[in-house]
Amino acid sequence: MILPIFIASLLFASSSFAAVQDFCVGDLNGPEGPAGYSCKKAAKVTVDDFVFSGLGAGGNTSNIIKAAVTPAFSAQFPGVNGLGISMARLDLAAGGVIPMHTHPGASEVLVVVQGSICAGFISSANAVYFKSLKKGDIMVFPQGLLHFQINAGGSPALAFVSFSSPVPGLQILDYALFGNNLPTELIAQTTFLDPATIKKLKGVLGGSG
Ligand SMILES: *[C@@H]1O[C@H](CO)[C@@H](O)[C@H](O)[C@H]1NC(C)=O
Repeated sequence: MILPIFIASLLFASSSFAAVQDFCVGDLNGPEGPAGYSCKKAAKVTVDDFVFSGLGAGGNTSNIIKAAVTPAFSAQFPGVNGLGISMARLDLAAGGVIPMHTHPGASEVLVVVQGSICAGFISSANAVYFKSLKKGDIMVFPQGLLHFQINAGGSPALAFVSFSSPVPGLQILDYALFGNNLPTELIAQTTFLDPATIKKLKGVLGGSG
């Protein structure tokens, strides 16, 4: 008796899913809420809403981290709005690093396309998982955990990452601590770092106070 009811409920579930819209290309002129952007009118949607050509070229790595992240999140690629996915391109020049950071809204999968990358994350139990990855290797970074990528070779490295959200979010630990006006004294009290080190890092990362 249970099985036919179960199958009937699956049929009911799938037929009701068919009634919802296939996609919701983001209307970037509208407001953005917790569920993403509102939908562009279906009559105005074209194939180009589902294609993003911005990951073909490397980002500019002439910066302090010698690295560039080129996102294809819903703000750049409105076609992923509402679909629970997105992508980005990582370019790491020799010596480049994507500093310790989290994506509050998404898990991540990274695939190395060129060069080698030392990547790792830290669990909420403070266990460390890191490895030197070579071309073709992929690694996952669970949602919300601190993680990093470092160029592990002497030549440029390239990776593509995908996310389990069209809006993964990004918080870089050093900028959160040293790139704003949080008073040095409070940072010292909450991190046990000495004030001279904090002021030096604020100088490097654009913070004050
Ligand atoms: C890369 O960024 C640097 C620093 O902002 C700038 O001087 C340089 O012109 C940029 N290069 C390109 C190709 O845009």
